[in-house]
Amino acid sequence: MQTSTLDSETIRLLQNRVSVRAYEDRPVADEIVDAVLKAAFRAPTSSNIQAYSVIKVRDPDIRGKLADIAAGQAHVRNAPVFLAFLADLTRLETALEKAGHDLGPTNLEMGLVSSIDASLVGMSAYLAAESLGLQGVMIGAIRNDVVETARVLELPKRVYCVFGMCLGWPAEAPKQKPRMDFGAMVHDDRYGATRGGKSGEESLGVYDAALAEHYRSIGKETADESWSNEVGGKFYPQPRPALRSQLAERGFDFE
Ligand SMILES: Cc1cc2nc3c(=O)[nH]c(=O)nc-3n(C[C@H](O)[C@H](O)[C@H](O)COP(=O)(O)O)c2cc1C
Repeated sequence: MQTSTLDSETIRLLQNRVSVRAYEDRPVADEIVDAVLKAAFRAPTSSNIQAYSVIKVRDPDIRGKLADIAAGQAHVRNAPVFLAFLADLTRLETALEKAGHDLGPTNLEMGLVSSIDASLVGMSAYLAAESLGLQGVMIGAIRNDVVETARVLELPKRVYCVFGMCLGWPAEAPKQKPRMDFGAMVHDDRYGATRGGKSGEESLGVYDAALAEHYRSIGKETADESWSNEVGGKFYPQPRPALRSQLAERGFDFE
């Protein structure tokens, strides 16, 4: 557990947060999920466009299909709660159409804004849920096939699932993964003016070693250059090469 000199309930919640993928076989009442989402919908939203929607997915058949898309992650199938956080441009499109306009052939800014909106709501929901004793994990693997996810969830055009979230009453207490060096990531006034005094490469070396130590302490095999090796493998070749064309098919044209 990390500690902070300044303390508050929210700081403690954030400092202790860890992704949890195993849950008690105990339901989460709808009122709890609604309270979590109502609080989350108070998140700031760019130009007040509120370009997000959320689907609470309970149907086991739909859950199974989403789990298949997410490379078979069992928690997507089994978690007491699965939420799909959607970027949703339909209401904005309606407003534009009322004024005789349209979203246009490309919509990079609106695509980004709606994805950011959905992410802020997602993280807010996560924290609200944690404050009530729930824990969980976000599911980006739902973007393995944006078009198939949209088909399964019957999303209209101009809507895509940015990420999902499993929530439940925790049945595990994973050890926290270390984070990169704070001093190397906070810059004063201009990029490069960090407080750490280490070069980017040096601090990465320190983190590679810390993450390797963490993985070994939980019995997981790892290379010495743990983080570099892991992300190097995940991001080359580029993951989800069909993403751009799939998003365009959903009405999010990032050209
Ligand atoms: C947008 C997003 C998508 C993620 N997708 C997945 C996922 O599909 N499966 C999974 O097990 N974890 C997923 N994670 C969890 C990350 O792997 C996790 O946050 C990261 O390894 C750091 O670990 P921690 O959350 O325990 O600190 C996702 C996290 C985020 C923010």
